[in-house]
Amino acid sequence: MGRVMELLTLPGVFAPISDSRLLAEAVRREDLGPGSKALDLCTGSGILALAAAESGADVTAVDVSRRAVLTVRLNAWRAGTRVRALRGRCFEPVGHECFDLIVSNPPYVPSPREDLPTRGPSRAWEASEWTHCARSVRSSSNTRRRSSSIRDRAW
Ligand SMILES: C[S@@+](CC[C@H](N)C(=O)[O-])C[C@H]1O[C@@H](n2cnc3c(N)ncnc32)[C@H](O)[C@@H]1O
Repeated sequence: MGRVMELLTLPGVFAPISDSRLLAEAVRREDLGPGSKALDLCTGSGILALAAAESGADVTAVDVSRRAVLTVRLNAWRAGTRVRALRGRCFEPVGHECFDLIVSNPPYVPSPREDLPTRGPSRAWEASEWTHCARSVRSSSNTRRRSSSIRDRAW
């Protein structure tokens, strides 16, 4: 049974649910440690970023929501750990940086809308934009590989 992390979420930020916790446990099983670099895309509360940071890895967390970025910083501070939290879409804030582990629990509920919500809670789960990001994560798995241990498991 995994550890239960006490995470705060600012209003409007996605609060971790069972799949978030399942993924956090998977992250803890990864072979990370000091010197490793991990990226959590669509970080929300930062649950996956913080799980990676427990190993001593250098962790970057990205989210399009300003409040999510603040939430990650707050949770990292409360946990006494360091996470570089950046605001932006998908890989934009990290440029061409490479990582040992890239993890993501993106929005995944198919959206009935042509245009994605740009604010509000539904931005956290409506998935039409994410289909672009998901393709981008998948196609980037080789170019962003920093070590031979990176594995493509999510998609
Ligand atoms: C389903 S929530 C998951 C949050 C967290 N990873 C978890 O497992 O609890 C998806 C998150 O993706 C963020 N998001 C949506 N579109 C994004 C994009 N294009 N780039 C980065 N983050 C995005 C939302 O703000 C939200 O925090």
